Amino acid sequence: MSTLYTGIGELTTNDPEVGGDDLLGRIRDAALVVEDDRVAWTGPASRAPDADDRVDVCGRAVLPGWVDAHSHLVFAGDRTAEFEARVAGEPYAAGGILRTVAATRAATDDELRRNLRRHVAEARAQGTTTLETKTGYGLTPAEELRAARLAREFTDEVTWLGAHVVAPGADPGDYLDELVGPQLEAVLPFVRWADVFCEDGAFDEDQSRAVLLAARAEGLGLRVHGNQLTRGPGVRLAVELGAASVDHCNHLSDADVDALAGSGTVATVLPACDLSTRQPLAPARRLLDAGATVAIASNCNPGSSYTSSVAFCVATAVLQMGLTVAEAVHAATAGGARALRRTDVGRLTVGARADLHVLDAPSVTHLAYRPGVPLTHSVH
Ligand code: NIG
Repeated sequence: MSTLYTGIGELTTNDPEVGGDDLLGRIRDAALVVEDDRVAWTGPASRAPDADDRVDVCGRAVLPGWVDAHSHLVFAGDRTAEFEARVAGEPYAAGGILRTVAATRAATDDELRRNLRRHVAEARAQGTTTLETKTGYGLTPAEELRAARLAREFTDEVTWLGAHVVAPGADPGDYLDELVGPQLEAVLPFVRWADVFCEDGAFDEDQSRAVLLAARAEGLGLRVHGNQLTRGPGVRLAVELGAASVDHCNHLSDADVDALAGSGTVATVLPACDLSTRQPLAPARRLLDAGATVAIASNCNPGSSYTSSVAFCVATAVLQMGLTVAEAVHAATAGGARALRRTDVGRLTVGARADLHVLDAPSVTHLAYRPGVPLTHSVH
């Protein structure tokens, strides 16, 4: 069964072979053929081949679905009071995580599943077609296993974040032993990635390295929460261990930027989190200028960034972080795919997954030109 999408005012392919020096590989007045959920053909509408079925998108822009490579969706409860205190001047601190740990442990599987379903659907309705999500509000072998198992019902991109903070009441040394032993063993069948919050108030460099090395020895890919609150060792460690991504990156030294630029580790920036926690915006412009690969993600979670809108993050990256629209859209699609080491998403090229995001707008420029306006027309 093949479908011809026609009437595409602007098609973003992210194909470096298309569109001259346009980062997004855009084709105007385009068409695209989908066969068995994969892209089978792209090009000018005037040269479109026949197909079994035909969909006219009436001049709208089409781009790859967002690849949201950072979220924490296995949770219960909310942290409105903490947010209110923060906007009244309180600083963001890692300790707030424990409130969500208590609410999550108290929730039934069905409550957590309902919450996951609601947030995944909310993200999809706004154009997200690939979503990573993390454990990290359980912090015991049984609770982390439960979180990983539930997350896996919704996505293959599940990350174990037992090393989010030390479990309440636990001795840090004992908790580290639990992480690299029974907790890691429990979650293994359900997770693709391991992550560590390497930060003051969470895990130091040696503790983080121990968790990441144990996870790598079990075949997991690595991710790091780094340099969110301080100019800490997270970026350095992520690059040293060949992590796929280091996320947050608010406080970077020149050496951190150079290390990222010379590595295969993606710098994932989280604009909504930066605004919600009143941290300095991550230096995405500086990272791109240095040659680093940047991804943009929502970091949807109840504490530091309660939004599932990647479009909001893209608009913020353009309006406040100094990225061009093309750079921001690329970072939230192809960049997210790089952060997840995926080649089948984040692009609309022959053989890629046909994750089509149709905008109610003639071009991706409207994502920043009309900030806050819900521009997703449909997701295919
Ligand atoms: O990515 N920084 C650590 N973890 C989450 C926050 C989680 C929370 O505050 O509940 C983050 O921002």
